[in-house]
Amino acid sequence: MEANYLQKISPRFEYPVVFTRGLFAPGDDTLRAVLEPRVEQRPAPALVFVDDGLLSHYPSLMKEIACKLRAESRWLRLAADPIPVPGGERIKNDYRLIMSVVDACLEYRLCRRSLVFAVGGGAVLDAVGFAASIVHRGLRIVRLPTTTLSQGDSGVGVKTGMNLHGGKNTIGTFWPPFAVINDLEFLTTLSAEHWISGVAEAFKVAVIRDSAFLDFLCERAPDLRARNEAVMHQVVMRSARLHLEHIRLSGDPFEMGDGRPLDFGHWLAHKLESMSGFRMTHGHAVSVGLVVDLTYAALQGWITMSERDRVVRALSQCGLPVSSPLLLERHGDGRLRVLDGLAEFREHVGGRLVLIYPDGIGRIRLVYEVDEDLLEQSLRGQALISD
Ligand SMILES: NC(=O)c1ccc[n+]([C@@H]2O[C@H](COP(=O)([O-])OP(=O)(O)OC[C@H]3O[C@@H](n4cnc5c(N)ncnc54)[C@H](O)[C@@H]3O)[C@@H](O)[C@H]2O)c1
Ligand SMILES: [Zn+2]
Repeated sequence: MEANYLQKISPRFEYPVVFTRGLFAPGDDTLRAVLEPRVEQRPAPALVFVDDGLLSHYPSLMKEIACKLRAESRWLRLAADPIPVPGGERIKNDYRLIMSVVDACLEYRLCRRSLVFAVGGGAVLDAVGFAASIVHRGLRIVRLPTTTLSQGDSGVGVKTGMNLHGGKNTIGTFWPPFAVINDLEFLTTLSAEHWISGVAEAFKVAVIRDSAFLDFLCERAPDLRARNEAVMHQVVMRSARLHLEHIRLSGDPFEMGDGRPLDFGHWLAHKLESMSGFRMTHGHAVSVGLVVDLTYAALQGWITMSERDRVVRALSQCGLPVSSPLLLERHGDGRLRVLDGLAEFREHVGGRLVLIYPDGIGRIRLVYEVDEDLLEQSLRGQALISD
């Protein structure tokens, strides 16, 4: 051995996460206030990719974005008009769509100091973020999330992804954003299904991290279903804060170690999404995943059956699904198909299987072995309320 180094590096990432309203309204200067001080090379070339699901609700959005950003010519140079991209899981399922984002970044000669704006739901943020992360080994991505789920969870985190080989997020990168700006006004136009999807992730993080927040969610479930905006804004912001705290304080932002607490309920959610041909939304699948894992935790005695029932009832009161016919689909040999999700999750995470369960409300238990009989019981009994 002529030389032996233990190389250690700790790259530092810092990004502002802002909640606001009316980001593109004339006179609003949030974009400038958040971004200008962080841009060293002026004017920074920029491209904007916009979720096409927004366009029917906001017919003048493309013009408003272009107008707003062109007015910032002191520090930003819009390289082209905003570019629409397919919204929802469609974009994550088709690598050609991702490559078209890569192509645009190269065609307009963006560099590592340029800004790529992604405006839309979690799927568009994941897909555009992934494309940006591989161009020149990483362009700066500014996320403008427009759904409850992306404002309260996916948009504020450090991951990108797309679906290949029929699996969820089989390709992706850890690539922290340059900034995240959430405009709460976008939430008003979401369909009922997507309005409530983000609430499932809020329940997820509340059950394992914050019992007071769980109380709030259970109390306000009917308001959330009735589209009470003030309550939803509180839910989204508190959920975002808990996700940010986890990523900042866990000591494992890039998920190298065992156990990913934010994946509570997700081994099953990802499987249900792919079994449904991605017709089931991520949030709906998470809700069913939570119910099954809460049932398993209650059967194991890690939480009480009445704690489990309270959450199941609240999820249902919000309008989230608490069961799915997919749970009891079987292979020819009689084995439940969803159980394949355990092996797929282990492969995705790497190393041995580690599942996340609550250990009492607000605490986490890492579990390395699954009792398949109990799990099957949980899958059968997921929707039942015991009292
Ligand atoms: N990267 C992460 O850490 C992470 C975490 C959680 C979830 N995710 C991913 O996020 C995705 C789900 O995101 P989502 O729940 O935002 O759904 P989505 O991105 O699929 O968007 C839902 C639908 O709403 C439309 N839409 C977006 N904004 C709208 C608005 N303001 N008004 C009306 N329609 C609007 C979209 O076009 C789409 O059809 C999944 O792919 C999931 O895997 C990623
Ligand atoms: Zn999720």
